[in-house]
Amino acid sequence: MKLIQSIQELRAALAVCRQAGKSIGLVPTMGALHAGHASLVKRAVAENDVVVVSDFVNPTQFNDKNDLLKYPRTLEADCALLEACGALFVFAPSVEEIYPEPDTRQFSYAPLDTVMEGKYRPGHFNGVCQIVSKLFLIVEPTRAYFGEKDFQQLAIIREMVRRYPFDLQIVGCPIVREDDGLALSSRNARLSEEQRRQALQISKTLFASVEYGRTHSLSETKSFVEEAIAHAEGLRLEYFEVVDGTTLQTVTDWNDSPYIVGCITVFCGEVRLIDNIKYKE
Ligand code: PAF
Repeated sequence: MKLIQSIQELRAALAVCRQAGKSIGLVPTMGALHAGHASLVKRAVAENDVVVVSDFVNPTQFNDKNDLLKYPRTLEADCALLEACGALFVFAPSVEEIYPEPDTRQFSYAPLDTVMEGKYRPGHFNGVCQIVSKLFLIVEPTRAYFGEKDFQQLAIIREMVRRYPFDLQIVGCPIVREDDGLALSSRNARLSEEQRRQALQISKTLFASVEYGRTHSLSETKSFVEEAIAHAEGLRLEYFEVVDGTTLQTVTDWNDSPYIVGCITVFCGEVRLIDNIKYKE
């Protein structure tokens, strides 16, 4: 495995692979890797000849500068995990390498990017599209891998690829959870032991709502989740939306769509956690 920091060096290494007819898998990450990332990388390794993992905390997608400062940075441990997963290149550029001048490109995919995270984190998806499009232009991957935990991000990246257009396949991968159900996230590292226990109520409530939803209306199920989180110790609900899994628009009846997903964002102390659950697929 090779750690590369310059765009030029990565391009040269990948050109050799491409000339040899090799397929290239890209796993974009912001580092602080965990078993969820490992599952993306292992899948990419199984499906491609060469795998590049980017490890870059992208400043343009943080609307909260405090969140950017506190984002965990663990490059050495990340490299050990990636080597074990079979990645060939780790691309860990500096901010100056990626943004030698401010990126003024605007990406707008309304209404996909104006709801949920788009509403609460203005500019976030613009920053995500800036970095992901740059990575696609630099790496020119055959396939790129993203987790379904960031459900809205995945839908927006699919739309960006369709409209740009980029010639690559987007592979969405299921959420990886701890044995007790907590969705894996780099932010979990910031939870105290007590907060970790409190955060468990998020996935527990979502799982229970699937069962509840079988015998209750969609609006009753939505209230079930909202009330459970409102009464849970240490948690503060930012939003819970039940949406069509493709358009991300709110649905109000179980018969409104064949694909229905519940997306939730909860603060546990200062740590903002997201999760989602599929009600219909
Ligand atoms: O999902 C993430 O970790 C980031 O949003 C991504 C896709 C790596 C872009 O910085």
